Amino acid sequence: MTEKTNQWNSTLGFLLAMIGSAVGLGNIWRFPYIAYTNGGGTFLIPYIVAILCMGAPFIFIEYGAGYKFKAGLSKTLRTINKKYEYIAWTIQMVPFLILSYYTCIIGWNLIYLILSFFKGWGTDTNTFFTHTLLQTSNNPLGILHIVLPIFIAVAVSWFIIWFVSHKNLNDGVETVCKIVIPLLFVLMAGIVIYSLTLPGAFKGVSALFTPEWSQLTNFNIWLAAFGQIVFSLSLGLCIMFTYASYLPDDINLVKNGLTVAFTNSGFEVFTAIGMFSILGFMSLVSNVPIDQVVTNGAGLAFVVLPSVFNTMGTVGYIIGPLFFICLFFAGFTSAIALVEPLNSSISEKFNLSRKKTVSMICLVGFLISILFTTTYGSSLLTYFDGFLNQFGLLLTVIIECIIFGWIYGLDKLLDAINSGSNFKLGKIWKFMIKYFIPIIVGIMWIRGNYTSFTSSDSMQVLIQFILLVVLFIVPVIFYKLPSKVKNY
Ligand code: ALA
Repeated sequence: MTEKTNQWNSTLGFLLAMIGSAVGLGNIWRFPYIAYTNGGGTFLIPYIVAILCMGAPFIFIEYGAGYKFKAGLSKTLRTINKKYEYIAWTIQMVPFLILSYYTCIIGWNLIYLILSFFKGWGTDTNTFFTHTLLQTSNNPLGILHIVLPIFIAVAVSWFIIWFVSHKNLNDGVETVCKIVIPLLFVLMAGIVIYSLTLPGAFKGVSALFTPEWSQLTNFNIWLAAFGQIVFSLSLGLCIMFTYASYLPDDINLVKNGLTVAFTNSGFEVFTAIGMFSILGFMSLVSNVPIDQVVTNGAGLAFVVLPSVFNTMGTVGYIIGPLFFICLFFAGFTSAIALVEPLNSSISEKFNLSRKKTVSMICLVGFLISILFTTTYGSSLLTYFDGFLNQFGLLLTVIIECIIFGWIYGLDKLLDAINSGSNFKLGKIWKFMIKYFIPIIVGIMWIRGNYTSFTSSDSMQVLIQFILLVVLFIVPVIFYKLPSKVKNY
């Protein structure tokens, strides 16, 4: 039996869960680097344009459709046209596959959280991360060698995700987000304020924000800004759709959506100030130019920052754990959101309880994650990440714009979106959804895939092929299996 408890207790719970789904690893370790390498202060202009013209408008498609249909994406698209149910399952495979490696990064983070209390990474943080901990190998046969500490950390991460997600919505996701998100903001504020007091902080922040105006006409920085918004706001992952489907009636969707978009961006700009203050400090202390200490992703969190915490002396024992707790909170609240689209659709179609569905999703997800706990795992993770973000995520954004914008019709969503709001969406919003977003994301999709397919080695091509099969064949099974519900 599906429970009837799939409804938010409060608008605040929904808002914090939405913010939690958006604010993730991408905000903390991706934004600072992307901004710095794409024109610094100048980047903020395309970035703001991307929020206004793509991020915020797209949020309202998923909000509006989820809120109006109050069902999972599979049932919703089936209602529009029976055959579109297949497309919905394909779309929902993307967050699930992202979750499979996202959880592995949360696992690495848990290990670093423990290590941070005694700086267990030693003095050579790069060798420690790459060789001692991950035991990285470029040999595909490394897939047969599991690295035990990583395996245990990933299993623990999955357990925590399962533990929260399998409970009913209010006791699990909602309660956790209500506690964790405010805590994340307070802790991060502490880190940023402290970082600003470090010697060299100003050098770091001015390196981040010094504009290179000549870059404004560079098309690539515009694409980078739009790409950052897609990833950071979790566009196209169907999370916002699913979370909005759990809303009761009479909600001011416009205010909510804008709050999520601006909080997410405010958080990442704010965090970037802290990260660059720390990098400025590192540059000053080690006498290395700032562009040589700047990196992103795992390199920033697990190599550069631990080395800065080493330099900080005793304070490093406080700032280090705080940083890894923040990274954990940010990643974890995004991970539980990534469970939700598939959970909602499977439990609805097959009339399964949330507990059963979440348990199955977490079990299968964990089995896939084992691949990333092997010595070939970090290469695999890079391939998965590149392909799913470049091919999958952008494609799902385009598909949603076409289905809701062109086939279903935006006018039918406008009532639901505008009903509780004084600020009404109208013609400009429709233009963005029907033309602007599909075109700009379409360009990003073609360019990115062309570059990645032409520069892939044979192993990468094989992995991309396997992922394509998973994305397009597995949904056939979900689509063809008969529903256990009358009039599904
Ligand atoms: N939006 C999430 C992140 O930034 C997925 O990590």
